[in-house]
Amino acid sequence: MPLPLTAPRRPCYPSRVSTARRTHGFRESVIRGMSRLAREHRSINLAQGFPNFAAPALLKEAAARAIRDDINQYAITWGAGALREAIARKYERWYGLRADPEREITVTCGATEAMISSLLALVNPGDEVIVFEPFYENYGPDTILADARPVYVPLEPGEPLDLERLAAAFSPRTRAIIVNTPSNPSGRVLTRAELGAIAELCIRYDALAVTDEIYEHIRFEGEHVPIATLPGMRERTVTISGASKTFSVTGWRIGWIVAPAALTDAIRKVHDFLTVGAPAPLQEAIAVGLDELDASFYAGLTAMYLGKRDLLHAALLDAGFRCRAPEGAYYILADFTALAAAAGGAARDDTAFAEWLSREVGVTPVPGSSFYREGGGRSMVRFVFCKTEDILSEAARRLRGLRDVAARTEPREGRPALESGLQR
Ligand SMILES: Cc1ncc(COP(=O)(O)O)c(C=O)c1O
Repeated sequence: MPLPLTAPRRPCYPSRVSTARRTHGFRESVIRGMSRLAREHRSINLAQGFPNFAAPALLKEAAARAIRDDINQYAITWGAGALREAIARKYERWYGLRADPEREITVTCGATEAMISSLLALVNPGDEVIVFEPFYENYGPDTILADARPVYVPLEPGEPLDLERLAAAFSPRTRAIIVNTPSNPSGRVLTRAELGAIAELCIRYDALAVTDEIYEHIRFEGEHVPIATLPGMRERTVTISGASKTFSVTGWRIGWIVAPAALTDAIRKVHDFLTVGAPAPLQEAIAVGLDELDASFYAGLTAMYLGKRDLLHAALLDAGFRCRAPEGAYYILADFTALAAAAGGAARDDTAFAEWLSREVGVTPVPGSSFYREGGGRSMVRFVFCKTEDILSEAARRLRGLRDVAARTEPREGRPALESGLQR
């Protein structure tokens, strides 16, 4: 019998044209939502962590050269040989950490892919993963995608890690701890002693440390200690970093993972099925950057970000926020409780305050609750300072006028359009 040409009038019930349950807890990235709001209000976007200034010329030339040389096809799935070798040289030079580029290094599409590939490869459904709170927005969805159960430990700006809370969070169910240092958004750079305490617990509970060291070179206090260099940790650490922040190339999507061979083997399989590989010509360019940019580049990076940090931090304090100068990374988490008089009803929570600040003051932060579990961060907003000085100075001027903003009449259309700060 021929099949009827018309579709059944009613869908079967329950409909299978629906979304997977694992996505139901995901919100749209609040940071991207705030960037949209910044565009709408012609406001300075201090929400999203991308630099608005140029990448090093050496890298750009190397990328252009790679394209001219027709490096256009898939690289080896776990990374172009030149880049894996440059990464190995870099870890040895900087930290005395030896890694075999053939068996222990994987190049990924940013630290973002590195983290989810690692969790999917190493964590079983139901395993517990310890996450510091406030946390980088992606770690929540990452643990959900890996079917893991996050267990939170506080790590607040300027506060030492509470080692008793940390010890209480570990148990035989703990599969891994995610360690982000320098940390977004707390700005903490974990000390050698704090990392030592984490290491001791990882060893005691036979757990993995999965680190996110993407801000390793944006640091104003303390030293950067890869936890993999601590005794007994090399064999249980997955070290993640990348080019996005160090070389101001967040759109290039080059990250990497250094992990013991057995772990790397599983991670590479997940990585291959997820993305096949990172952009081939850009891998060549990052290899050149890692090998050729010398100490003066890294010193310049720190000095540049220190100036930006101090500019924004002073402006926030003057405006009436309560905040600590971060030890590393390029974010300031600021408490706006003292600004309730200026903000009126908008001070009732972080989202209302962030929207008000964007609309009325012309500076757009991210609501603090994006970095906490339900109920946390309601009196906080987060600002980035990875912007050029003209943008930050204008943001500082606007913020300093915040206390008398209620009386201010400057029309929104009258604001200078600082286009380079308004992207995305
Ligand atoms: C802690 C942290 N990890 C990872 C990333 C993203 O890194 P990538 O661009 O290499 O994916 C960010 C970006 O803001 C971040 O703050």
